[in-house]
Amino acid sequence: MNAPTRPIRFLLGDEMREVADADPNMTVLGYLRQQERRCGTKEGCGEGDCGACTVALGALEDGQLVYRAVNACIQLIGTLDGKQLLTIEDLADEDGALHACQQALVAHHGSQCGFCTPGFAMSLFALYHGQDRIDRNRINDALAGNLCRCTGYGPIIAAAQTMRDGGALDRFARRRGETIAKLRTLSEGKTAMLEGAGSSYYAPRSAGQLAALLERHPDATILAGGTDVGLWVTKQLRRLNTIIYIGDVDDLKRISVGERWIEIGAAVTYTEALATIEEHHPDLAALTRRLGSEQIRNAGTIGGNIANGSPIGDFPPPLIALGSRLVLRRGDRHRELPLEDFFLEYGRQDRQPGEFVAAIRVPIADPARQLRCYKISKRFDQDISAALGAFVLTLEAGRVQEIRICFGGMAGTPQRAPETEAALLGKPWNRDAIEAACGALARDYRPIGDMRASASYRMNVAANLLRKFFIETTEPQARLGVMAERRAAHEHA
Ligand SMILES: Cc1cc2nc3c(=O)[nH]c(=O)nc-3n(C[C@H](O)[C@H](O)[C@H](O)COP(=O)(O)OP(=O)(O)OC[C@H]3O[C@@H](n4cnc5c(N)ncnc54)[C@H](O)[C@@H]3O)c2cc1C
Ligand code: FES
Ligand code: FES
Repeated sequence: MNAPTRPIRFLLGDEMREVADADPNMTVLGYLRQQERRCGTKEGCGEGDCGACTVALGALEDGQLVYRAVNACIQLIGTLDGKQLLTIEDLADEDGALHACQQALVAHHGSQCGFCTPGFAMSLFALYHGQDRIDRNRINDALAGNLCRCTGYGPIIAAAQTMRDGGALDRFARRRGETIAKLRTLSEGKTAMLEGAGSSYYAPRSAGQLAALLERHPDATILAGGTDVGLWVTKQLRRLNTIIYIGDVDDLKRISVGERWIEIGAAVTYTEALATIEEHHPDLAALTRRLGSEQIRNAGTIGGNIANGSPIGDFPPPLIALGSRLVLRRGDRHRELPLEDFFLEYGRQDRQPGEFVAAIRVPIADPARQLRCYKISKRFDQDISAALGAFVLTLEAGRVQEIRICFGGMAGTPQRAPETEAALLGKPWNRDAIEAACGALARDYRPIGDMRASASYRMNVAANLLRKFFIETTEPQARLGVMAERRAAHEHA
């Protein structure tokens, strides 16, 4: 039996919008510029890299109104359901007085050609509304997804540092109660639906509704944060006929911490998962902060990173090294498998039509197990890995009791290193063992060369990462030195 449906409903600024018959492939940017004629939001790259299209989305999280910056160019219109969409046109007061973040950009000469400015203002707006202390690290994180070619970042950073100095609540904070009440009326239990231009879009609210929909439409495209899928539409010009959005499925939005596992629902975003990851696996949290930009992390999910099956996704290697498991569901049937078994070969995963990733189970931290993950990319921020090495080690009386090594970027899938692990298991943890293990890496991997790195660079870097791991686990001061260097680089960037 079909679940009852309703049109998508959201607030544009303070005004309610109800849409039932738009093309579900339309991006939020296309909707703003072509339908609403709000052209303040710019299109630069159309692929989530430059931040010119940044808008703020207000949503209820645990009953609180939270504003987050996202890239309008890769978000599909249906995902606005239940949210408040704010663009640069919304920021100034009715009497024309600029918002504090705009005023600070003016005061510090933070704009020249102006093309990037609306995007920066919206990232600053989300930062202004966040709970965090606005220090230099926080500003760097918040602005790493916004590119400016002519002003230079100094004035923009100065604007970020001073925008809260006035102290007064802005009108969005003053109207918080009213906005929350409006948002509550938008969301109700029915599946939101959109139809147009021959395509359909569904946003179920429960895992049961999702499972039933996927059984009816086994070939549908599952949409989570859209930070991969959005580019199929904008860059590959693919048309998606049936889209099933999982971002409103309550059961998939949960994180629970048990005695053995942290269970992360497939629709939990990186931003939502970060505090839990930080508490249990700080090295993985450092990696999370380097994944894409704040806009990407506000939308993207770990579930999407896994299901996408890319050999250079950042999360599979550390999760596999930790021994994580994947929970899949099809209809009423659940199954669970070690994450490494999910990746069959390049472009092929162990997922049946109509089946979806429900959750990822990550082992709880164990003080005896050391995890390190190292991402190698051409830029520090906002770049895809050329190679990513993840290592888990347990030592007993100076000997290797457990070693799990997984690399991304070294094969057609994220892959363990069985020969290298065998070369280390049971051996004393010393330089000789490491050098022997470095030799074994060539039996585990035959990487390809591409625009990110040559095959020989990848082999060299893999061996060097293993040596780095050894140094960091045997000379704690080396690790402290690295951390201090990283902090200083961040502070002076
Ligand atoms: C500018 C930019 C920077 C990026 N930087 C990085 C980076 O540094 N590191 C990195 O690893 N990635 C990066 N990415 C890629 C992307 O952000 C990640 O892969 C992200 O985790 C994808 O998650 P998502 O929720 O957006 O997935 P979506 O795009 O919604 O979906 C991705 C794929 O997974 C499928 N899918 C999603 N959820 C499920 C589910 N529950 N069950 C079954 N199938 C599902 C979809 O059908 C699709 O095939 C970047 C992308 C952009 C645009
Ligand atoms: S247009 Fe460049 S990130 Fe959207
Ligand atoms: S002001 Fe010109 S790109 Fe930033």
